Amino acid sequence: MPKLWGGRFTSATDRSAYEFNASSGFDKKMYKEDIAGSIAHARMLGKCGIISSDESSRMIDALIKIREDLESDALHVTDEYEDIHSFVETILTERIGDIGKKLHTGRSRNDQVALDMKLYTRNQIKLTDKGIFDLQNTLFDIIKNNTDTYMPGFTHLQKAQPVTLAHHMSAYFEMFIRDRERLKSIFDRMNSCPLGSGALAGTTYDLDREYTAELLLFDKGPTRNSMDSVSDRDYLIEFLSALSIIMMHLSRFSEEIIIWNSNEYSFVEIDDRYSTGSSIMPQKKNPDIAELVRGKTGRVYGSLMSLLTTMKGIPLAYDKDMQEDKEVSFDAMETVHDCLREFNGMLSTITFNKNTMEKSARQGFTNATDAADYLVKKGVPFRDAHSISGRLVLKAISLNTSLDGLSLSDYKEESDLFEEDIYDAISLKTCVEKRVTFGAPGSASMKKIIRYYDEYLKEEAGLWKN
Ligand code: ARG
Repeated sequence: MPKLWGGRFTSATDRSAYEFNASSGFDKKMYKEDIAGSIAHARMLGKCGIISSDESSRMIDALIKIREDLESDALHVTDEYEDIHSFVETILTERIGDIGKKLHTGRSRNDQVALDMKLYTRNQIKLTDKGIFDLQNTLFDIIKNNTDTYMPGFTHLQKAQPVTLAHHMSAYFEMFIRDRERLKSIFDRMNSCPLGSGALAGTTYDLDREYTAELLLFDKGPTRNSMDSVSDRDYLIEFLSALSIIMMHLSRFSEEIIIWNSNEYSFVEIDDRYSTGSSIMPQKKNPDIAELVRGKTGRVYGSLMSLLTTMKGIPLAYDKDMQEDKEVSFDAMETVHDCLREFNGMLSTITFNKNTMEKSARQGFTNATDAADYLVKKGVPFRDAHSISGRLVLKAISLNTSLDGLSLSDYKEESDLFEEDIYDAISLKTCVEKRVTFGAPGSASMKKIIRYYDEYLKEEAGLWKN
């Protein structure tokens, strides 16, 4: 059990207590970040004359070699080390002797782990941003190709008014724009460097914190309060909140796909590559990927609740409870990446049954509002027009037909203002095309939206590009 402490102890840690306390099993994920932080720290110690420049470069060379050895599998982080920090320092000292023991000058594991976790999270935010960007590109293709694919729009899961598939997909595109804006603002807010905060009260060495912040690409420079720096996990909670919202969006989308894929709707056919069969019912083709994405949403919310609860009872500054931030966060980050990837695969290979969608839009009186609007345009107050159109719906139900199926005399019985052009006014195409307000499904509006998305996808630099 190589340890970074022990001087004031007279007996060894109980074996199971040691294992309970250790974090190397999961924080080894942060080896790159831990080594990057140590390299920056060693460089700064050398620059400030706290160690000699020769010592600094020997440390840096050895740290680079440790990273290479870990990457080539020549070296492994095993359970005998308490955490990733102990591992790196122990191996460094084994390799370069006493110089390695100087690495921790002016540093504590508290500011070290705060740094590692921030570096790790920063990278994860970029990966999430890229995952959403890829999904937006898939959505954009569907949007461009389906501006005249008519389908029913729903409220209360009841057919409401006709829309297009492009318009429906654009609603998700908007959600993902907001998700990416959230990621960007979290990234910007968290981008200050905790290194140099020591255990909680800074250090007695004249460290150059500006320099390490710059080396590690923290745009906002060093953090301003050492106690806050070592115990701040807000950025993780914010990221987990953003991930939860992303999952909520993916889950709603999954739910739609599951409904659309049902035998009753048959709006879509999920590609064989993204569906599964039943072990007993040979006819089945199940939307497992969408169901799993919907299901894993609970798991990501769970991570957010877990960390919020962990943090609520912690007095300043660092307490070991904070080690609990890692497993739940890593799990949520990975879950969201997996979901974004698989969902994107499923969506980019899905077939939309356009005829079925259009047929469905023709049923269920989705044009009843338009029949009322026809009268409004002839001077009838909307409330009266609404009531007339409602009576026409009742009549159509009793005759087992649609509004388009009623005769002109049926119409005239309710209002003299109806003329032959009512049929055009309530045709599916007119119902959609007349919806010209910016943000509506009519092509006058959708053309502008598509132009906007095109620019957005070209110009939106994206965190992942940095
Ligand atoms: N494994 C610890 C964590 O994740 C590292 C920091 C340990 N600091 C300490 N004072 N014991 O929080």
